[in-house]
Amino acid sequence: MKVDGKHMRTIWLEPDGWSVGTIDQTALPHRFAMLRLASLDDAARAIKTMQVRGAPLIGAAAAYGICLALRADASDQSLERAYAVLLATRPTAINLKWALDEMVAAVRNQPREARVAAAYRRAAEICDEDVAINQTIGRNGLPLIEAIAARKSGEPVNVLTHCNAGWLATVDWGTATAPIYMAHDAGIPIHVWVDETRPRNQGASLTAWELGHHGVKHTVIADNTGGHLMQHGLVDIAIVGTDRVTAQGDVCNKIGTYLKALAAKDNGVPFYVALPSPTIDFTVSDGVAEIPIEQRGGEEQSTMTGRTADGRIETVRIVPDGSPVANYGFDVTPARLVTGLITERGVLDAASGALKAAFPERAGD
Ligand code: MRU
Repeated sequence: MKVDGKHMRTIWLEPDGWSVGTIDQTALPHRFAMLRLASLDDAARAIKTMQVRGAPLIGAAAAYGICLALRADASDQSLERAYAVLLATRPTAINLKWALDEMVAAVRNQPREARVAAAYRRAAEICDEDVAINQTIGRNGLPLIEAIAARKSGEPVNVLTHCNAGWLATVDWGTATAPIYMAHDAGIPIHVWVDETRPRNQGASLTAWELGHHGVKHTVIADNTGGHLMQHGLVDIAIVGTDRVTAQGDVCNKIGTYLKALAAKDNGVPFYVALPSPTIDFTVSDGVAEIPIEQRGGEEQSTMTGRTADGRIETVRIVPDGSPVANYGFDVTPARLVTGLITERGVLDAASGALKAAFPERAGD
């Protein structure tokens, strides 16, 4: 996508040909800052601190983390250590494990002297594949928006989204946002309700920034607003991303997604989930019981960070001293609440038969 008129991806090789450039997402929306990753530790830290975040981008960054580790030491022990260090950074997004497994498969049987080149090759492919998949997700999701637009005869299509499943969360295009960008580019009037997504505000800080830079009309809302909007006919369709989809079609995504799906069901609003196939985890079925839910530091909940009127970035406490806080990062929306899964192989039912039939090569994993 474009930043100040210049096409950008979220991750790239620097001119030195080996270190990795990315965007520091913790600085947005107030500052656009780039980050250079030059070691395994740099890559692991960037993922853990969420300078780099969003399931597909976490996978891509981890792939380059393996490259950087092998560049320093191409031994089996180094590969195993890098795998373990990167896997431990964040527990919920399955794209992380998928990308690490892909990297190991690409280098394991190579002689030591060929491993670094093989690793960089596979990491670049993972990035290119992500872009192509998301573009196809966009094409497959576009007819859903077109159909609503046809009914609304010129009135904007109101989409609700949660968290940031935009291009910042992927290598390019985003997943939930790909159909939105394509609809906007095709001249369909579209307006996005952006859930702020406490505690880290990925909606308010990242999705709003992205949509604004692309010229897509949007409104940031407090997380609890969606149900009210749906009751009043102000949401035509909800589209969210996901960090892991189970074999039976349960969807794990940023905390608060489940409540939006419940409200959507109660109000007859179609609730779609956009996902690339590396987000499917065929090894788990019941998402509520089986997906590990990340719990992050309480300071994310007890504080808020923002820009003061005179331009300083400040963090302030919003919870009384001494009050305990809990910070669950994700929740699971059962398949029965999901209208459809927008994938690179079409819009599928959120059901094990459908996922298995569409991705038989993954189902056998
Ligand atoms: O904790 P985050 O910001 O990494 O969580 C991101 C999400 O929950 C996204 O919706 C998900 O990764 C899909 S990104 C295409």
